[in-house]
Amino acid sequence: MFIVFEGGEGSGKSTQVKLLYEYLKANGYKVIVTREPGGTKIGEQLRTILLQGKIDKMNTITEALIFLAARSDNWEKIIKPALKNNTIVICDRFQDSTLAYQGICNNISIDLLNDICSTITNNTVPDRTYLIDIDPVIGLRRSMRHCNKDVRFENKSIEYHKRVREAYLQIANNNDRYLIIDGTTTIEKVNNIITQDINNRLLKR
Ligand code: TMP
Repeated sequence: MFIVFEGGEGSGKSTQVKLLYEYLKANGYKVIVTREPGGTKIGEQLRTILLQGKIDKMNTITEALIFLAARSDNWEKIIKPALKNNTIVICDRFQDSTLAYQGICNNISIDLLNDICSTITNNTVPDRTYLIDIDPVIGLRRSMRHCNKDVRFENKSIEYHKRVREAYLQIANNNDRYLIIDGTTTIEKVNNIITQDINNRLLKR
């Protein structure tokens, strides 16, 4: 089972990733967590290149290719072997981050991005994707509170982040594998929605 969390900055998705991991582990499931960009040694190095420094330090194509390179390493070394081993994989961001940020918001061809992604993953798609939806004004306020150096994307304009939100909603509304959750409710409420959904729709398969 391959579960992905998506959402804008400060949506609380990383907290929810951790809570779902703990829930599944406590219920006896083999489960791992990974993130994008990141997850592997190379992926984490690429993450630093992508998320630190000035907004304009690279062009949008260079940026997209580095995100995809990080995905390829994470897929080959972490996600593919775990799925093969019947381990549940929870991934903090995946292909739809690339479609939303690089594709819809940076105007890079969606077909091109989909082609590269499906080459990397051999057409594997997540079984379930949770979109933690939040107004970027609230999300950015939350994420800026964390003392974090990975703020290259946070520093982009509010207009950019509003486009990201719309892009995610557009992707999610066209896809049955999505559950859209209001990220402004409490951590516990969001976690309850997710664990109930996992129990109902996935673990009973
Ligand atoms: P996060 O891990 O703290 O959510 O930050 C990752 C940032 O990278 C976030 O701003 C979204 C961005 N991103 C992309 O633009 N494209 C991608 O493919 C991925 C995985 C992330």
